[in-house]
Amino acid sequence: MSIQPGDAALFANAERILRDNDRGAYTIPTRGLYPFQWNWDSCLTALGQRHFDETRAWTEIETLLAHQWPDGMVPHIVFHAPDEGYFPGPSVWATGGSTPTSGITQPPVLGFVLRRLYAEARDKALARERATALVPKTDAWHRWFYANRDPAGTGLVAILHPWESGRDNSIDWDEALARVPTEGVEPYHRRDTRHVDAAERPTEAEYDRYLWLVQQFRRLGWDNAELHDASPFQVVDPGFNAILLRSDEALVELADALGFAGIAEDARCRVAQARAAFAGLWSEAAGQFLCYDRVAGRLIDSHSVGGLLPLLAGIGDTGRLAATVRRWRQQVAFGVPSHDPADPRFEPKRYWRGPCWLVVNFMLSDGLKRNGEPAAAAEIVADSLRLIRRHGFAEYYDPTDGTALGGRHFTWTAAMAMELLAGGREA
Ligand code: GLC
Repeated sequence: MSIQPGDAALFANAERILRDNDRGAYTIPTRGLYPFQWNWDSCLTALGQRHFDETRAWTEIETLLAHQWPDGMVPHIVFHAPDEGYFPGPSVWATGGSTPTSGITQPPVLGFVLRRLYAEARDKALARERATALVPKTDAWHRWFYANRDPAGTGLVAILHPWESGRDNSIDWDEALARVPTEGVEPYHRRDTRHVDAAERPTEAEYDRYLWLVQQFRRLGWDNAELHDASPFQVVDPGFNAILLRSDEALVELADALGFAGIAEDARCRVAQARAAFAGLWSEAAGQFLCYDRVAGRLIDSHSVGGLLPLLAGIGDTGRLAATVRRWRQQVAFGVPSHDPADPRFEPKRYWRGPCWLVVNFMLSDGLKRNGEPAAAAEIVADSLRLIRRHGFAEYYDPTDGTALGGRHFTWTAAMAMELLAGGREA
């Protein structure tokens, strides 16, 4: 990747977005569309914040973990302050608790973010103090996953709601979501389509099912011991599991460094079991991993970026996966599309059914770089920076022409730009 004139200004613009969206002790993804704290957004945001204020970066994560559930789950949204601009709000989730939260979780990037904050900290004493308090909480979340989302002990966890994947309306979920009923869904008004063109968002049919699942879990009192088996939607997402595995590896390193021998040992065991289980998700024909529908008992024939994310943890054949990334890239103008462009279901403007997302590019390039494919990594970084330079800090982008889509002035896009620019400087 080449550093270009103007990159200092780009970096400064990214910092301004992070500061504009800062609400004191947490950062919103963007004004209007997402007015609360989101789990994986916040963790990845801390990676950007550390470049200009390390203390603030640690605080971002501490605020999120202050709302960890007693059972260990870290919720996907923390509703810090009321805001009518978002649906579904706290009254729909009805999870109880003093500060309302949603009742589901999101991809656990926390572990590998913490490791990076700690390992690359300028203020080592601060990092040691903050990380020491956060390691047991991260461990509790990881243990929660295997206890509640892998009750049969397969080594891989299931998501119970498409929103948990962070890739809300991916084609990966279509088949399993079709099984979710819509009877009894309470009348509702979406707010997202007041902020963003409906053509760039999930459909009404999907929303009905998203809400049915929320209502079903609410009826069960959000008891995580019951939710898994009671859900008609149980999908093992290779992307989600790769993120968890990578975070568990990071937890091993942190726990070893900070004197938590027991935590390190347990995390090592989980990593070994998960690594072995990935073989069952590999598709030789597709040259990537696939999701597994646990209710139907079969792999899902959908070629999304979720099946490439195991690159992040060096799982599978990195060369084969890198070739798949390149095959997709050759069909579009910017990488990495969130779905195989050759699939007739590919939609270049609709959210997670085709558009490029900078957080995904960051994770893919990081994995490629660390696992022997630096040229493939550099191509993704170059595409990412081209998107930002030409089209600004959008929520996502059309891979066919780079058009900015969804929300603007977007926090995690800005944070990822800072990471990619800083990585280029270090390289
Ligand atoms: C959307 C994305 C999700 C993200 C959230 C806030 O729901 O699909 O991954 O966390 O927006 O940015």
